[in-house]
This record gives sequence, structure tokens and C-alpha cells, in this order.
Amino acid sequence: MKILAIETSCDETSIALVEASGGFTNPKFKILENLVSSQIKIHAPYGGVVPNLAKREHLRNLPILWRQIAKRKGQIDLIAVTVGPGLEPALWTGINFAEDLYNQLKIENSKLKISGVSHLDGHLYSFLLPQKTSRFTNLKLKNLFPAVALIISGGHTILLLMKNLKAYKVLGETRDDAVGECFDKAARLLGLPYPGGPEIEKIARQVNPQAINFPKPMIDQKNYDFSFSGLKTAVLYYLRDNNSAKKEDVAASFQKAAFDVLIKKTLRASQEFKAKSVIVSGGVIANKELRRRLKKEIKTGNNLQLLLPSLEFSTDNAAMIAAGAYMESLLKKKLKLEANGNLRI
Ligand code: KG4
Ligand code: ZN
Repeated sequence: MKILAIETSCDETSIALVEASGGFTNPKFKILENLVSSQIKIHAPYGGVVPNLAKREHLRNLPILWRQIAKRKGQIDLIAVTVGPGLEPALWTGINFAEDLYNQLKIENSKLKISGVSHLDGHLYSFLLPQKTSRFTNLKLKNLFPAVALIISGGHTILLLMKNLKAYKVLGETRDDAVGECFDKAARLLGLPYPGGPEIEKIARQVNPQAINFPKPMIDQKNYDFSFSGLKTAVLYYLRDNNSAKKEDVAASFQKAAFDVLIKKTLRASQEFKAKSVIVSGGVIANKELRRRLKKEIKTGNNLQLLLPSLEFSTDNAAMIAAGAYMESLLKKKLKLEANGNLRI
């Protein structure tokens, strides 16, 4: 199945062309194109994403990206577009563009289909996409389930139990800020540019993450919920009370506190549910320190595998929307072609 996927839920405009095959037992993906046009520079002066500017930029970028792909598209079987969660004005630009393309392309291909996709299914299944070097999925699904899956992005922090590729349930989620949002807010307090996650990672390198003892909200609670707004407030008070605080120390200690909570709760869930693998996805898994710590703490040989999307499929991109679309089509999950900013997983 050749899928043309479109992603416009936030501040990245992305179109991908992906071949999917293998069904539930052996899903395989081949990335033919994955074009991402980032709007970071446009939103940076405002310290966050401005919905109307995002809309304007998506409208400008979508035809540009499409022109690059159109000449080598071949026969497309499915047009897949993110319908939520995300910023509704931004989501609508992708949906309208997808519908126009569908009407145009179905003239030459009467079997063409169109479907709405959950951005969260995109992140969740992004580990099935090929790692950069191989360009083909090369993953044995045997002995991966049950799995514990953690989605960590700018809008979400969700821990899931996956019985298999088809069936998952939510174990817990954040009660306030998402962890990526907390990185962005802490970065702002430190005077770092938007988006804050990569900036915090950068200055946190090579300093002692034990310098400041920030709170680790809910780390020892037996449930699988999270809370990050208190950690952000702790950074605010620390900076207010310590004029000579070194930014680097604050960033590294903050990052450690956030990751300690994520790792501890994920590993506890994997023990409780006798998971055979841990899957982590969403923009925050682009953080190399988090990847390093997860790899270290989930040592191979203890029957627990770690599955991470490659870096290029960690932050928002349309290739992952193709993966989500393929799994949703196998699941017969049908989402309306309407923006739903608060769509649940
Ligand atoms: O998945 P994503 O691209 O968009 C959403 O669905 O929200 O995630 C974006 C979030 C932002 O909050 C950004 O600061 C965070 O992921 N992020 C990072 C890193 N790269 C992106 N957080 C920590 N370290 C990073 N290297
Ligand atoms: Zn995302």
C-alpha cells in the first residue's frame, strides 16, 4: 500500500510518501520521501507557536512540499492526514489540502482512499519505521509483547500497556503539563529560545546534573500518572532566589529530575506487567541524554528490549502519520475528516 501522508498539527509542515506492507504480523515500511518544513524561526520571536501564523505557513508550505513529491509519486493508494490532537486552525489546513488532492487524484485512480489519522497513533507506531541507515523496517516482532509504551511530546505524556500491536490501554498520563511543554517553559525561564527542549539539552551537557535538587513529582506514587507543572514552578522559584545560579546547572538538574520520573515509572510499569519491551516516542525522545540513560538502564540480556524511533522520526513528521494510518487501516479505525484538537488516544 502506497501512502501519501500529511502532517500539520503544530509547527511542522510535513508530507511523506511511504510504502507499507506485511499486516499486523510483519509490518514493514519503506520511506520514499519524508519532507519536513519547520516553522521554528517564525514562532521563535513569540516564545511559542502562534496558531494563526502556523496556519499561514502551512498554507504556504504544503503546495511547495507537494510539488517536490508530485513528480515521483506513482500510484497512491491512500491519502492520510492528521485530524488531531493539535491546533485546529493548523489541522484544517492539512485536511483541506488532503481533500483537494483526493478530488484531483481520484480522477486518474478510482480506487484511491482518504483517511483521518490520530497524531498519537503516529508517534506510538513510529518505532516501526526504518532506522535511518537501512531505509527498510528490519524489526522482529516476536517476543516484543506485552510492551510498555511511553509517548512524550509537547502536548502529551502518556504511558500505555500494549498487549500486542493492535490492543493498547492507557496506564497513566500527565495531570497538568506535558513533559515537552515543561522543557519549553523551563527554557523560557532560563532565557533560552523556543523550542526549549533541544536548548536545555545543549547547555546541560558536561555539567553536573546533581548540582540542584529539584522535585521529582509523583515519582514514588504507585499509579502511572505524571505531573510536571510543579517542576517548572520549582525552576521559577530557584531562579528568583538564586541570582548567581548557573544556567547550565539549572538546565542539567531540571533535565535529570524530569527524566528520573519518566524512567522510574516506565520501568516500574514494565516490571509490574512483565513487559518484554519498552517503546518510547514523541519529540522528547530526540534528547540524546534520555536515549543514553534508557539504553543504560534497559540493559540487553535481561529480556527487556528498548525500541526507539530514529531521530528523524521522533519530532513531528509525516512518515509516522503513514505508519499510524497503516495500523489504523488494519484496525479498521475510522476517524472523521474533521479537526479535533483534543482527540484522545
Ligand atoms: O512530538 P513533537 O515534535 O510535537 C508534539 O507533538 O508536541 O514534540 C515537540 C516537543 C517540544 O516540547 C520540544 O521542546 C520537545 O519535544 N523536544 C525536546 C527535544 N527535542 C524536542 N525535549 C527535550 N530534548 C530534546 N532534544
Ligand atoms: Zn507530535
